[in-house]
Amino acid sequence: MSHTTYKNLIGGHWVPSRTGKTFLNINPANSDDIVGEFQASGAADIDDAVAAAAEAYKTWRLVPAPKRAEILYRCGELLAERKESYAREMTREMGKVLSETRGDVQEAIDTAYYMAGEGRRLFGQTTPSELKSKFAMSVRMPVGVVGMIAPWNFPMAIPSWKLFPALVCGNTCVIKPAEDTPLSTFNLVECLAEAGLPPGVVNIVTGFGPDAGAPLVSHPGVRAISFTGSSEVGRIVGQTAAANFKPCSLEMGGKNAMIVLDDANLDLAIEGALWGAFGTTGQRCTATSRIILHKKIAAEFTRKLVARVDALKVGDGLDEHIQMGPQVNQQQIETSIRYCEIAQKEGAKLLTGGSVLEDGVYDKGHFFAPTVFGNVKPNMRIAQEEVFGPVVSLIEVESYEEALEAANGIQYGLSTALYSRDVNKAFQAMRDLEAGITYINAPTIGAEVHLPFGGVKQTGNGHREGGTGALDFYTTWKAVYVDFSDTLQRAQIDNAD
Ligand code: UN1
Repeated sequence: MSHTTYKNLIGGHWVPSRTGKTFLNINPANSDDIVGEFQASGAADIDDAVAAAAEAYKTWRLVPAPKRAEILYRCGELLAERKESYAREMTREMGKVLSETRGDVQEAIDTAYYMAGEGRRLFGQTTPSELKSKFAMSVRMPVGVVGMIAPWNFPMAIPSWKLFPALVCGNTCVIKPAEDTPLSTFNLVECLAEAGLPPGVVNIVTGFGPDAGAPLVSHPGVRAISFTGSSEVGRIVGQTAAANFKPCSLEMGGKNAMIVLDDANLDLAIEGALWGAFGTTGQRCTATSRIILHKKIAAEFTRKLVARVDALKVGDGLDEHIQMGPQVNQQQIETSIRYCEIAQKEGAKLLTGGSVLEDGVYDKGHFFAPTVFGNVKPNMRIAQEEVFGPVVSLIEVESYEEALEAANGIQYGLSTALYSRDVNKAFQAMRDLEAGITYINAPTIGAEVHLPFGGVKQTGNGHREGGTGALDFYTTWKAVYVDFSDTLQRAQIDNAD
């Protein structure tokens, strides 16, 4: 089958990598389907892209923010027009089902409209000066060239979380999409270019982490880094950035707990568990991977959940009847296999799934059966470590307090959920769960773009995407004083008495 070869986008030009190497983007549901061929870039390509972004920054930073925002708005409209075709391409490269890839494109549209609105805000502060006839204010300034490393699980939404706020704030960007899902970033940037984004303001360099990601992070011309991925890689990215005092936003792993108390609406909680654990084939950093059950409802919940999991239709996400697609690649499958072995050795009980699906329709893809483990104890590795696959653990507890202890007893702190009809418990959970996101009577997935997204503990390093937190990362504060007294006024001295 013939396929398209995509080049890097540098300074508005499509250029092959200086390495001369390429890699294939293959449909995880069907290895016969080649989505495209992409550049396997290296440090020299990053140099070119950073130089182009630095050149474009000279003029882009001076474009009024409301005008920059209009480009984002038009980009949102183009994305909305092309939503269906982009969603199909995303399912082909990433695997998740069409309803979810439509949601992914929608998340980029939402981000475009939200950040377009910011073009007429980007509020700073005015404040009185301690001196007469002197004006004081603080304004948001762009940072400069920003480097971005995006993950494969939200191939358009997450690049949009990074690019749109960076752009409205006046930065220029070099983005390295995940090697599994570069096409969706190309589609996003195609809309930006058609919406009027000047050449060089966004540059795309494709390739692998050690070859293309590492030189982007360490490049002296890159003034800030935004990374989403594993905690393991995030630690290296953070350390490299720190060596150059470079602001660095890290969004990393999760081991998200859903607590179901004995007064919960059980059917609702089961519906939520299915969506939270097996949506995106469990490959979300917000995925529900631990369900902490009050012992009074544990048996009924488990029985009903397992029946629903057994009925899930797994297959090619392009088929509208399918409920769960493949995993993104063989490496992810191997991680799921490994953790199923670990869990069983630790004494967890396999209730359903636990194996690769290989025959017949599954022959050409990376499919793993939706998996539920019972009898899981909070300190087991299966309850502590991120699997990033369709594997969920059930933990039984005797009280709300015990549930809270289990929920918080992990190194991560991204998302959490509580199912209960007790309003006091709901507000306690909202206060006491150690996480960046808490849902009440909804699963751990489903963040909206105008609220802060990110986590505590080893999930992140304190920054937030989404909402105004993104503006805080992509701008730096400048304090400005205007003295209109025509005299020298010395702060802290001339106004001392
Ligand atoms: C992720 O889990 O990697 O909140 C991002 C959600 C989505 C984004 C998830 N809006 O589930």
